[in-house]
Formats: sequence, structure tokens, C-alpha cells
Amino acid sequence: MTALKKTTPGPNLADIQGLIIRGYTHPCSVHLLFKFSSKPADLTSVRHFFKALMPHLQNAEDWGPLKPEMMLNIGLTAGGIAIVRSDLNVYNSNFSTTFKRGPWDVNSAQLSLGDYGDGDPSKWWNNKFANEDVHCIVHAYAMNPGAQDSIVDMITTAAKNSKGTVTELLPLKSKTGRLEQYPLIPSDYIHFKYRDSIDEPDLNDNPAGTDQADLNNFLIGYSTLPNPIPGPLNGPEAVFAKNGCYNAFRVLYQDVVTFDNFLEDQAQQINPKEKDTTVEWIAAKICGRWRQGSPLVLSPDMPEHDTSKSTDFGYEQAVNNDSQGLRCPFAAHTRVANPRDEPVDAAGSTLVPRILRRGMAYGPPLLDDNTDADRGLIGLFLCGDISGQFETLYSWINTNNFSDVFSPDFNTQDPLIANRSADPIGNNIDPTFTIPMANGKNVVLPVPGPKSTGILPQFVVTRGTAYFLLPSISSLKGIAEGHIPK
Ligand code: HEM
Repeated sequence: MTALKKTTPGPNLADIQGLIIRGYTHPCSVHLLFKFSSKPADLTSVRHFFKALMPHLQNAEDWGPLKPEMMLNIGLTAGGIAIVRSDLNVYNSNFSTTFKRGPWDVNSAQLSLGDYGDGDPSKWWNNKFANEDVHCIVHAYAMNPGAQDSIVDMITTAAKNSKGTVTELLPLKSKTGRLEQYPLIPSDYIHFKYRDSIDEPDLNDNPAGTDQADLNNFLIGYSTLPNPIPGPLNGPEAVFAKNGCYNAFRVLYQDVVTFDNFLEDQAQQINPKEKDTTVEWIAAKICGRWRQGSPLVLSPDMPEHDTSKSTDFGYEQAVNNDSQGLRCPFAAHTRVANPRDEPVDAAGSTLVPRILRRGMAYGPPLLDDNTDADRGLIGLFLCGDISGQFETLYSWINTNNFSDVFSPDFNTQDPLIANRSADPIGNNIDPTFTIPMANGKNVVLPVPGPKSTGILPQFVVTRGTAYFLLPSISSLKGIAEGHIPK
């Protein structure tokens, strides 16, 4: 559980959904999607659905020594808010354009997200429903499979009791069709066999704080930053959204077969005599951390137990300076996703956008007999400003053009997760990954070989995305009770 550093009295934790502040570590979770009927006459039934969920709605207050055995949090898309709060006139309101249009919009979100080919928005959710159908998500967490069954049963029964006004959407081709966390071992590892969830903004509850990692800059209604500004800030929708936070929810398929084959093939080309060690070296250079977690900046030559969860480092510091990228390549996933103290100069901004990651793995680990199984990451990326934080970061991932450390002529990409053909604004994309070497003989992946196309393969494919608001507890109770909080 992420501790909140309390300095002065800040936002009311009892009114904030727990997911925003705490990295839940429950071993079981299911993320259920729902569509609402838009007929005004059906609103009462939709409200009853919310009412049934309220007893398990988890707020951000300390839950004491024992984690709740089961609990849930709720998100709503712009389309969902338009139904349950039709008085807000959402689409003409000052909710941000990107939230209102949705992540599939080619003139807005897709300029940054750049989902092409198999990940194109027209193919999301395995074509089992339309992007616009997603109105609500219920994140259900449980301490054991029995409790998971109980809470999922409670939620789906509430939907069934709604007389067809709340319909569950089942995005996967799996037996249940639901987005269920898979208990990988060890529990903090994800497919591709990296340890994840190591580095998160350490939320600081200073209401006047101007750091991107301050709670007030994630919560709607408090930001002290000139940009991003979590909104809306005016009108009745500002009252509804206050104490909420946005969740850019993204289902990312991980092609483990292609990833493993790439590592093996490249290691074979680079150093066949020490192939296994070279596989791990390439995996580390791609991510910026060794697979057990040690950051390359602190442990450049081998993974080390003492640094496996280290988060206190930079790229430009006097000690362990890595301004040449000799420890951690410039385009490595973690260096692009959080350049820390590296000079950043993107569209006049020197701020590094921060996001809270609350994701987990879905689908079984790769075995010989299940190569075709669907597996990947259920990504919950929380932020106060979807465009200024999440989408900006994604545009950096797809086109590394935010810092002078990258060549101005060719724009490289995050080698782990970028959409390879993403070039929505005509940038000259470099489809290779350079590992700077002290002897000047840089390694450029993919190195030529019988199995190499000369272009980095696509390791991650978008299966679906939705932008949710995680409203305050009082706004959700208002929906359930049918009265509008002032
Ligand atoms: C399947 C897709 C993804 C995989 C396999 C993946 C993997 C990883 C791994 C292994 C780490 C290192 C562990 C840690 O620092 O906690 C990491 C860190 C991180 N990732 Fe990802 N990631 C994925 C998607 C994303 C996306 C879509 C974003 C942003 C929109 C993102 C943003 C970050 C950030 C901000 C960090 C922390 C970097 C730092 O503070 O040094 N990741 N990721």
C-alpha cells in the first residue's frame, strides 16, 4: 500500500476513491465493463445498480491492519456520465475535449496513442462491442478466489436485476470474457518476465504543492500547476468531478513469443557463446532495469539484490552520471516514461508528466501448449489531465523527440511498447534501438541475421482503451440516491 505523506490537512480522504491513492496489492481483481441504457425512463434502474454497489465502494482512508476481503471502485466515461447525470450536458461542458471525444478519436487522442494495424481502434475489444458502448467500469478486488467470486456475483447480479438497463460487456475471447488478473508468480512480475510496479510517484499531500507528484495535481479541483490543469474547474460539472481523478484504461496484449524469440535471436547474433547472459543484457537495455528490477543506472553490469527495488537515481547526477546513455540507453522504456532529471524540451514544457500505474497481468504465462492464449497487461494509468500527462507520455513513447539527447533528424521509439508504425504527424521514425557502448561501437538492434527484418518487432498491441473519470464517493452516492450534490 502506497503511504501518503501527510503534511497539512488536505483533501478529504473519505470522499476520494481508494484506488487513486493506494496501490492495492490484492491477489485477485476483475475489471468489469458495463453499458447503460440511454432511455431517460431507465435511469431509476441504472441508479439501483449503483446503489447495490455502494456497500463495497472503497474510499482512500486507512483501512487499518486488515485489508478488506473484497472491495470495489467505479469509473465512468463521458458517455456514462451523460446518461447518469444528464443535467450536466457533458458534451457541451468544460470537461476536456480528449475525455469527451474518447481515446479512439483520430484528431485527438490517436495523434499521441498512435494505435495502428492490429491495435487500430476499429478492432478494439475483439470487436465484441463498440468503443462508444463502454459507459462504466467496476474494478473489483478480492483477497482470495472465493471472495472474488462473491464480489463479481454481487456486481453482475446487480446488473441482471436492472431489467436490461445495465449490460455487462465481455471484451476477451476467454471462457468468462472478463478482464481478470492472472496470479503470475512472483506476484509483482508481468509477462515478458520483468518485475513491475517498482517506481510510482510518491504522493505528497501538500495542498499547495507544485510538484507533479503531489496529490493535488492528480485530484480534480486542487491543481497548483499552470499545466496540466486537472479539470473541469467551472460549473456544475466541476462540482461533480471534484475529488475525482482520470483513469486512462488500456488493455495491452503482450506478444511473449515474439519478444522471447527476438531476445534469443539477437543474443545469438551478438554473443552466441554467452547467449543466456546476453538475452538478459538486451532485456535490461530495452527496459532500463534488469528483469529482477535493478536500474541500469545503479547496477550497469549485473542485477544486484540491493538495488532491485531502488527508485532514488537520476540520469544527470554527479554520481552515476549517465548523460551518454552508456548505462541506460536513452530510448529504454523507463528512461522515456520517466526521464527524471534529464533535460526535457517538448513543446516548451520542461515538466516530466507523471502518472500513477495501477495495472496487473491478465492471461496465463506462456507454456509450450498455450502459445495462442491472450495475455498482457490490464493498464490503469491514473492522472489529473489525460492529455497533459498520459497522452503526452504516450507521444514520447511513440516518438522520442522530447529531449536533445535524441537526434533531431531521426525519432527513435521506446523499444518495448511503442506502436512501430505510429507516425501520425509525419515524423521520421527510426525503427531501430541503439545501445550506446563505451568503446564507441554502438549496438544497433535488430542486428542483421537470418531472422531479422531490420525493424524492431511489435511486442505490444492495444486491445482496447477507455477514458474514465473515477468520481468522488459523494458524486457516486449522489447517482445511487438520485440527488445532485451541491
Ligand atoms: C505491456 C506494456 C508495458 C510493459 C510490459 C511495461 C513494463 C514496465 C517495466 C518492467 C517497468 C519497470 C518497473 C518499474 O519501474 O515499476 C516499467 C516502468 C514504467 N512504465 Fe511501463 N510497461 C508497459 C506499459 C506502460 C505504459 C503504456 C506506460 C505509460 C503510458 C508506462 C509507463 C511506465 C512508467 C512511468 C514507469 C516508471 C518509470 C520510472 O519511474 O523510472 N508503461 N514499465
